[in-house]
Amino acid sequence: MKYFPIDKFRSIETPFYFYDIALLRKTLDAAVTEAAKYNYHIHYAVKANANPRILSIISGQGVGADCVSGGEIQAALNAGFPCGKIVFAGVGKADWEINVGLDHDIFCFNVESIPELEVINYWAGSKGKTAGIALRINPDVDAHTHSHITTGTKEDKFGIHLDQLDEVLKLLKSLPFLKLLGLHFHIGSQITDKEPFLLLCKRANEIQTRLSEQQIKIEHINFGGGLGIDYEHPDDHPIPDFKEYFELFHTHFPVFPHQEVHFEPGRSIVGQCGSLISKTLYVKEGSEKTFVILDAGFTELIRPALYDAYHFIENLSSEQPLETYEVVGPICESSDCFAKQIELNRTSRGDLLAIRSSGAYGEIMASQYNCRQLPKAYFSDLLE
Ligand code: LLP
Repeated sequence: MKYFPIDKFRSIETPFYFYDIALLRKTLDAAVTEAAKYNYHIHYAVKANANPRILSIISGQGVGADCVSGGEIQAALNAGFPCGKIVFAGVGKADWEINVGLDHDIFCFNVESIPELEVINYWAGSKGKTAGIALRINPDVDAHTHSHITTGTKEDKFGIHLDQLDEVLKLLKSLPFLKLLGLHFHIGSQITDKEPFLLLCKRANEIQTRLSEQQIKIEHINFGGGLGIDYEHPDDHPIPDFKEYFELFHTHFPVFPHQEVHFEPGRSIVGQCGSLISKTLYVKEGSEKTFVILDAGFTELIRPALYDAYHFIENLSSEQPLETYEVVGPICESSDCFAKQIELNRTSRGDLLAIRSSGAYGEIMASQYNCRQLPKAYFSDLLE
């Protein structure tokens, strides 16, 4: 299934992102098909990858967009996502960003605090509009993932805490320019274990039972994103198990009549279709290790440095016997290391390496530290 047109790669300046568009389409198709079985709605989490071409392929599948900034709303609109399928989350929405959302009549603001409710109400009123809102609830569910990407515990800054819910509902009655559409949750990212999702279903059930006792009808429930991908074995599991994922929610979260269920997958849609392709600049013998020094660094892919994330790396230019290497970048910081003590086919200067599963939170998190250029992107279907 894996597709790397290595001959074409040789004429492209490295480092660059390479996207396997056939895999992206298959992944999207799997997600949409499995979600449709239960009439679930998908809003792609733009933060995972906002490359304009990737976004327009995704919008072409008819899914919505989950945005966390005014810039993401603009990127989603440019890529053809309809206003009515855009949701806007984020713990710190600036006034101008709220206005971008209101001016485009987006579907829903996922609101994270009491002061934010008041500010959205103010701006909506000033425009004579009613803003659709969902309350992002912090369900206090531990996602058992890296602490930097856990969002749904009491310790985290995200969401409205459960013990504030009554106060929020009371306040809402005095905010005439807001319409409560539903509830929103997001407990974290790269979740590979079922248990946090089961707990989330249980919490969501409890909360909506509590609300229905107060005659509050929740028309939309949004479970956020979080489904993990297989970073260790991208070729064995190029497409995440959407079937199992949506089935779990179907089994454990009984919907009320006319209720719509939404999801915001990011990584699971775009993660496996992208690779960072980099050239070996030097192979350097240290006193105890051999370093493969690449022309890509954490400026192109920050996940290993920031989260200790593992990405499978392969040498596309060599079939020599395996040797053990430390794969590092050229940035002047010791954290600029992609992998410690991994096996690669014997590597020499000029060899092209693929850092796999980099389609999510790769290109979009690139920086220009050390005055470097942002990486370009190439697409399998345009290289053929
Ligand atoms: N919805 C909300 C409200 C989110 O905050 C996120 C991700 C998503 C959906 C999408 O989650 P996904 O399906 O991609 O797990 N940069 C980190 C990941 C940060 C995720 C932030 N929120 C990384 O590289 O692992």
